[in-house]
Amino acid sequence: MAGRERLICAASELPEQGRGVRFELSRSGQQQAAFVVRFDGRPRAFLNQCGHVPVELDWQEGEFFDHSRSRLYLICSTHGALYHPASGQCVGGRCAGRGLIPVPVVERDGHVYVMEDQ
Ligand code: FES
Repeated sequence: MAGRERLICAASELPEQGRGVRFELSRSGQQQAAFVVRFDGRPRAFLNQCGHVPVELDWQEGEFFDHSRSRLYLICSTHGALYHPASGQCVGGRCAGRGLIPVPVVERDGHVYVMEDQ
């Protein structure tokens, strides 16, 4: 199915391993909660849904990285499942191998766009 790009935010709103931006995504005819963060210089987006129980991850709006100094992983605020921010792969905790679902995003001309269903 062909998709269309929709603006999420300015690229400057996504500092490296910093606060993320929540957005709604049209997917298979349904609105779903999603988020985007910046990791390793690129925007990375996923459905905002833990692999353990389908609840949203952020403990405070936009706070997706773990609370350690290195902020290496995305963390679920409910029971602490950890996910790799590049792939969404489960790296520890109750996600038990179930990763986050990636969402395609692009950064262009200072803005970040999501590709969603028509
Ligand atoms: S709901 Fe996310 S770790 Fe349990």
